Amino acid sequence: MKILCAGSLNIDKVYQVPHFVQAGETLAAAGFAQAAGGKGLNQTVALARAGAGVRHAGAVGADGGLLRQTLRQAGVDDSLLAESSLPTGHAIIQVDPKGQNSIIVTAGANGALERDYLSAMLDGCEAGDILLLQNETNELPWLLQEGRRRGLTVAFNPSPITPELLDYPLDCVDILILNEIEGAALSGENDPARIPAALRARYPRARVMLTLGGDGCVYEDDTQTVRQGIFPVTAVDTTAAGDTFCGYFLAWLAQGEPVAQALRAASAAAALAVSRPGAAPSIPQREEVLDFLCSH
Ligand code: RIB
Repeated sequence: MKILCAGSLNIDKVYQVPHFVQAGETLAAAGFAQAAGGKGLNQTVALARAGAGVRHAGAVGADGGLLRQTLRQAGVDDSLLAESSLPTGHAIIQVDPKGQNSIIVTAGANGALERDYLSAMLDGCEAGDILLLQNETNELPWLLQEGRRRGLTVAFNPSPITPELLDYPLDCVDILILNEIEGAALSGENDPARIPAALRARYPRARVMLTLGGDGCVYEDDTQTVRQGIFPVTAVDTTAAGDTFCGYFLAWLAQGEPVAQALRAASAAAALAVSRPGAAPSIPQREEVLDFLCSH
């Protein structure tokens, strides 16, 4: 089973701050770094480092060299990316001393994907392959429908949540991978314990994988409910923890592992990611995750 991730690629400009900047405040950063990110790229890198066969559909501008290099180093074919006349997407990320983040994204090339290009990338998939999507590119409603029409397993991480998302054809989704804030927004249910059932009532074909912050995560489908706790670590930077979880979870499933093992591996990978700075650079290799699991 192959995986196509169609999603954003961003240059992340990361500022270490004593606290998130307030209205009217000018704040000196304690540190600055630039690194590869974007929810799409992060999830592709997590899939690749987890050992899954993954192609990436997305666009960068002439300034996207770092992102191409990051994909190449992860073993992903960057020649399949579209070259845009727009600048590469970027994110301004504040990281506070507790490792929490606050992110502003500007789409750039991520907002100008063309259907002909996406269609050609989808032509490389076979029925049953996984199409992984997030909400940082244009053409999302079309991609959801096209994935379904072609018999792909549509996995969707509805991040970031936007008002128009509720009007998208989410009935095309086979696997929803989301956090409790996204789950509440999509289901209208604020009690985290009730979110999976509420999502499955609204989107009956979807298997639901819901992360619950410090309470771990829960997976639900027609036949099983599986829970997994977190692996406690000291948080340095939570950026891309969700992307790491998503990539590892799908990679383990695509490799035929049971859901319980996939959740355990994904939780371990996310724990390793939050203990390191940056988005894509923080995503662990498969061997690191296996070592971590052996020692926990
Ligand atoms: O999920 C983390 C990512 O969100 C960052 O890498 C940033 O680029 C934004 O897309």
